Amino acid sequence: MHICHSLKTFSATFSLFLLFCDVHHLIYLELKMRIDILTVLPELMESPLNHSIIKRAKDKNLVEIHVHNIRDYAQNKYKQVDDYAFGGGAGMVLSIEPIDLVISKLKNKRKYDEIIYTSPDGELFNQKIANQLSTLNNIILLCGHYKGVDQRIREHLITREISIGNYVLTGGELAAAIIADSMIRLIPGVISDETSALSDSFQDNLLAPPVYTRPAIYKGWTVPDVLLSGHAAEIEKWRMEQSIRRTKDLRPELLKDNE
Ligand code: ADE
Repeated sequence: MHICHSLKTFSATFSLFLLFCDVHHLIYLELKMRIDILTVLPELMESPLNHSIIKRAKDKNLVEIHVHNIRDYAQNKYKQVDDYAFGGGAGMVLSIEPIDLVISKLKNKRKYDEIIYTSPDGELFNQKIANQLSTLNNIILLCGHYKGVDQRIREHLITREISIGNYVLTGGELAAAIIADSMIRLIPGVISDETSALSDSFQDNLLAPPVYTRPAIYKGWTVPDVLLSGHAAEIEKWRMEQSIRRTKDLRPELLKDNE
């Protein structure tokens, strides 16, 4: 009787565990993001996406990042991936073939939600785009090249072009790292305190309020009394006021976006 009861309990617990595992697994399957970064400078992508929060996200299996060296897909003896521009002009242009080969190989394995080319010509990256991208499962980031890529890549192989700002970088790698970082941190579970990502600057078009930590007085420089008061509602009110004031003073154009 005792053994029977124990067995029943064990079996119930076990199936619950299975159910939990299953649901848990399903949730993980649902939320996991895969990013494939295509670049001629894979070394540049190593450090920015291998530390701190992004590293932990990878360790927790919330995101997979695969960096592909476009040069590995060059079909010529010298592994050359760029060539002179038709019609002349300074600078080399990334050729279509190696990029087509790597994109086709990836697309044969899974469906991609977006194939993004980083370029100063693209739509201007912002928090809204980061939020939207963070909900996708499979994304390719093709890093731009300083003199550009064969136009047919942009016309036939990519789905979206993104610029990180109105200035020109030597290549798209740093832009790709910025886009990847900003979307990965929004994946549920990546930042342990979920409200933290939600209270970011820009999440509601308001700048974040100032923050302070110990010591409360340093060289006579003090911390606002309200933050030391322990009154949660007062602190919340103060933070909102600060957010609005800072946005009005520093980035008034953000408030217009809310209208
Ligand atoms: N490549 C060069 N400049 C860039 C920019 N501003 N944004 C994205 N990719 C780029």
